[in-house]
Amino acid sequence: MFVLVTGGMGYIGSHTCIQMIESGMTPIIFDNLYNSKPTVLDRIEKVSGVRPIFIEGDIRDKQALAQVFAQYDIQSVIHFAGLKAVGESVEKPLEYYDNNVHGTLVLVDAMRDAGVKSMVFSSSATVYGDPASVPILEDFPTSATNPYGRSKLIVEECLTDFQKANPDWSITLLRYFNPVGSHPSGELGEDPQGIPNNLMPFVAQVAVGRREFLSVFGGDYPTKDGTGVRDYIHVMDLADGHLAALNHVGSKQGLHIYNLGTGKGNSVLEMVVAFEKASGQKVAYKIVDRRPGDIAECWANPAKAEQELKWKASRSLEQMTEDTWRWQSNNPLGYPQS
Ligand code: NAD
Ligand code: UFG
Repeated sequence: MFVLVTGGMGYIGSHTCIQMIESGMTPIIFDNLYNSKPTVLDRIEKVSGVRPIFIEGDIRDKQALAQVFAQYDIQSVIHFAGLKAVGESVEKPLEYYDNNVHGTLVLVDAMRDAGVKSMVFSSSATVYGDPASVPILEDFPTSATNPYGRSKLIVEECLTDFQKANPDWSITLLRYFNPVGSHPSGELGEDPQGIPNNLMPFVAQVAVGRREFLSVFGGDYPTKDGTGVRDYIHVMDLADGHLAALNHVGSKQGLHIYNLGTGKGNSVLEMVVAFEKASGQKVAYKIVDRRPGDIAECWANPAKAEQELKWKASRSLEQMTEDTWRWQSNNPLGYPQS
């Protein structure tokens, strides 16, 4: 089965491609390399034994997409491509709406022209805003507090309206909680450009000596130890969740929404301790002011995905931290340029 994977050179997309290849699917990667490097293809080949088909292109380029749909008999699209930095989205809202919202509309339009009616979309737990309670269920109210989150929410709403008007389509919205970890081989992982925004890559860079200390954003939240609590999910579990979505609802007409999380919450300090144990390195930290826009705690109720997709996150916190460390220590500066 040919599956178009937009953004397949990125962090979550590359891990998903490996799992797809292992299960006999054929990913066709479409990526403009804005936030990824060509070396990712070599690494996917090294780990899986297969070099995926790669087309360098932008999802806002309808002609380029039309060519891909004309060339390959594509059954479904997994749509990862997009910009994802919350802080940057506040500075550059137009770029975020253009890439994430306009880009998705062009992609859906190209799919419609080609008669491809199945899409799995990368959404985010950010669409729940500041939830009134935890664990979070799929029918909780949604809201946005920054342009990145709003772009995800707008896309969810556009896809919902579109599916309603085109009931023979299958559209799946996967709301990821906090993806961490890397492929157990240590060949693929998260490779942020510049200073990492997210906790795990920052912790890993402190452990490997690239940064002096971690700033812990807030020690006075109403949580178990005062620091923020999140549902960290191994990227390989997340990758498997996409396969489960394709297999169980990818050809079932309708709009399908699932939380992809573990159902457990860990604090920032628990993550630091777990990482120190996995790496054998000290992770220096300082507690500083809260980061504007952060919420105290957030974790999923993943029961719906378990029931309907027959999928459940199985990898432990130890695996998340050990795999991150293997990737970081083997590739202290991330992927080489080419
Ligand atoms: P990433 O930046 O590593 O990967 C995204 C890929 O998309 C990159 O390779 C980039 O070059 C490509 N891309 C961006 N704009 C494009 C365009 N216009 N045309 C073609 N390719 C384009 O990000 P990721 O962490 O792998 O995230 C994948 C998706 O999951 C994103 O949509 C993101 O918003 C969503 N998501 C990520 C997280 C997270 O914490 N990583 C959490 C929730 C949701
Ligand atoms: N944190 C620190 N120091 C840092 C970075 C983060 O203390 O240097 C803390 C945060 O305050 C938060 C926790 O670590 O309590 C996790 O922060 P991340 O930035 O790693 O993740 P967020 O939960 O803020 O957001 C992430 C993605 C969003 C996505 C959301 C839900 O960045 O895009 O998960 O999926 F929407």
